[in-house]
Amino acid sequence: MTSDDQYQYGKMNRPNNMDKLVFILLFIFPVLYGYPDKEEILREINKETKELLFADNIPRKLIDMVKGIKNIKDKTIRSEMVCRTCEQVIDNVIDLRKSEATKDVMVDYLNKLCRAYTDNSPDACKGYVNIDIDSVLFIIDHKKDFTPARFCAIRLQHYQCVDPDADPWTIPLPPPPSITNPSVHPVNGTKEMQVLHLTDIHYDPLYKPGSNAKCADPLCCDSGTPANPEDAAGFWGDYNVCDTPLHSIDDLFSRIKEKHKNLDLIYFTGDIISHRSWSTSIQENREAIRLVLQYFAKTFPNTTVFPILGNHESHPSDYFSPEVTLTTNVTTEWIFDLVAQEWSKWLPNDTQSTIKHGGFYTALVRPGFRIVALNSNVCFTTNLWLLYQDKDPFDQLLWLVQVLALAEKNGEKVHLLSHVPPGEESCHKQWSNQFKKIILRFAKTITAQFNGHTHIDEFRLFLDNEEPVNVAYNGASFTTFVGYNPNYRIYQVDSSELTVTNYDHYIYNLTKANENSNVPPQWFKLYSFKDAYGLEDLSLKSLKSLFINMNTNNSDNALAEKYYRYRGRESDSYLKEKCDDNCKKTIICCITSVETSTTLNC
Ligand SMILES: *[C@@H]1O[C@H](CO)[C@@H](O)[C@H](O)[C@H]1NC(C)=O
Ligand SMILES: *[C@@H]1O[C@H](CO)[C@@H](O)[C@H](O)[C@H]1NC(C)=O
Ligand SMILES: *[C@@H]1O[C@H](CO)[C@@H](O)[C@H](O)[C@H]1NC(C)=O
Ligand SMILES: *[C@@H]1O[C@H](CO)[C@@H](O)[C@H](O)[C@H]1NC(C)=O
Ligand SMILES: *[C@@H]1O[C@H](CO)[C@@H](O)[C@H](O)[C@H]1NC(C)=O
Ligand SMILES: *[C@@H]1O[C@H](CO)[C@@H](O)[C@H](O)[C@H]1NC(C)=O
Ligand SMILES: [Zn+2]
Ligand SMILES: [Zn+2]
Repeated sequence: MTSDDQYQYGKMNRPNNMDKLVFILLFIFPVLYGYPDKEEILREINKETKELLFADNIPRKLIDMVKGIKNIKDKTIRSEMVCRTCEQVIDNVIDLRKSEATKDVMVDYLNKLCRAYTDNSPDACKGYVNIDIDSVLFIIDHKKDFTPARFCAIRLQHYQCVDPDADPWTIPLPPPPSITNPSVHPVNGTKEMQVLHLTDIHYDPLYKPGSNAKCADPLCCDSGTPANPEDAAGFWGDYNVCDTPLHSIDDLFSRIKEKHKNLDLIYFTGDIISHRSWSTSIQENREAIRLVLQYFAKTFPNTTVFPILGNHESHPSDYFSPEVTLTTNVTTEWIFDLVAQEWSKWLPNDTQSTIKHGGFYTALVRPGFRIVALNSNVCFTTNLWLLYQDKDPFDQLLWLVQVLALAEKNGEKVHLLSHVPPGEESCHKQWSNQFKKIILRFAKTITAQFNGHTHIDEFRLFLDNEEPVNVAYNGASFTTFVGYNPNYRIYQVDSSELTVTNYDHYIYNLTKANENSNVPPQWFKLYSFKDAYGLEDLSLKSLKSLFINMNTNNSDNALAEKYYRYRGRESDSYLKEKCDDNCKKTIICCITSVETSTTLNC
């Protein structure tokens, strides 16, 4: 029931210091020192959860206990407590439905659970439950072996919850070729291509400059008068929990059109829809998706756009339902049908069948240069349908292997587009593990990967026996969600080798832009990769040495400091949070963590 990005960005929780003190005194301290014991706290939570069904008010005590558990410092104890609490809660939900509870009773109970276990406002909880309820009930009613352990192991995989019945599925790989086919090089070596990378626009049709930017909902800046004038939503966007107004999108496209007349290709790696995921609808998502894609088409009539789906495009947000739901009202096939049609202006028509099947496709840019565009959102742990079936949804990874094997055979080079980056901690562990295996196997065919979703400017390096074999670039985000400066990026790509040789990252200072709403934001180049990090090129070898230099020079490490600053595009809001040595270690560790289970240990 929580909005997907809540865990990731952390900033959406608004901890109250007084509450924290109460938990520490009442719960954490006793938990760590053995009194009252863990079992007693779990029993208490279970009792309260059951009684919630009949409660008129949400007991504050329950919220406190759960938050207290999340604050436990000892990782093992915390994980055990979180997982067992989760299992108890879900057990109660399943039991209630199995005892013939009606949809109305379930809605009422889920609402109470949402209020008791999350920071969502009553309105947001109500919205989430109404949107989710039919899918939730479909899964409880139709999935025979649905267990609380399954729910918690998938949904709370970052707490290392375990499902003893989990199926460790694998995707078979063809053996490496005995002879490597020569690459197809139909283009003369010297020319470089310019590739625009845009990602995570998150258009908010309700954005209202001057409205309250500090509200109780998971997304603000749409209504209300701020108590404090400083909390009024900025004209061009806001560092608070807010998405993007239409006039900022308009400015983005006019700026790129004016300044970059030599674009060869455009990669758009998803997330058009705002984070107001408790009140989306198919109709409104459809309109927003059409509108934003129209901007691409109208601004760049002569440039091919390769778009992919973000997790937010669907309704309910993040859900991608399997074929078994096709004839029911919980199916999400509308989103595949919509983009099959909307993307067709850029794509060959033989992409239609895979897009309609699962939202992914492959297309040749020219002989020897292939795009593979994934719908990696299916691996997102908030995709409820993973609970129904987590084994390679839509057979996408199986398809990926076939496409890459054929590309390898034909001597083609591949650019891989995928919304969710490798190693993202909310990507299903098994999917992530198999994806990594596939990349390692076809590392010579894939010359670069392009991602979005985290809203962070970062890159990931695939190592095979310590040797760098592949790289994934994250285009960060145009949305400011949460606390970032908006950006776009332009890669220089070697026309012949199809490797990225450099990129330029463009931003504006949102604080400054908002000082004067009458003039357009002042875009500028924040950095060029090679210059910024003192590299001769962006070869895998150079990237590895950059990684090593960041790692070995710990304190006063200028490279790591730079990497940190650029992650949030040097926004005033982001720079306020200092990154100490531990924080730097974590972000550097993430560079070579290309699989969920490794990232969780960073
Ligand atoms: C590549 O260069 C050669 C010799 O300069 C020229 O004959 C050929 O047409 C060029 N090919 C392309 C695809 O530009
Ligand atoms: C696109 O191409 C057409 C035909 O070559 C040309 O008339 C038009 O000016 C181009 N538009 C842009 C925006 O470059
Ligand atoms: C969807 O179908 C289910 C089962 O047939 C039904 O109970 C539910 O009310 C329907 N929901 C809507 C919004 O029509
Ligand atoms: C794709 O295009 C070809 C040629 O224009 C046409 O014959 C074929 O029917 C099209 N297929 C689909 C699925 O639209
Ligand atoms: C952004 O602009 C504001 C207002 O002009 C300024 O105070 C601030 O220092 C700038 N931030 C950065 C990181 O340059
Ligand atoms: C650490 O940084 C310094 C200065 O930036 C550089 O000269 C040195 O080679 C780096 N050390 C390692 C082990 O890379
Ligand atoms: Zn996003
Ligand atoms: Zn996303």
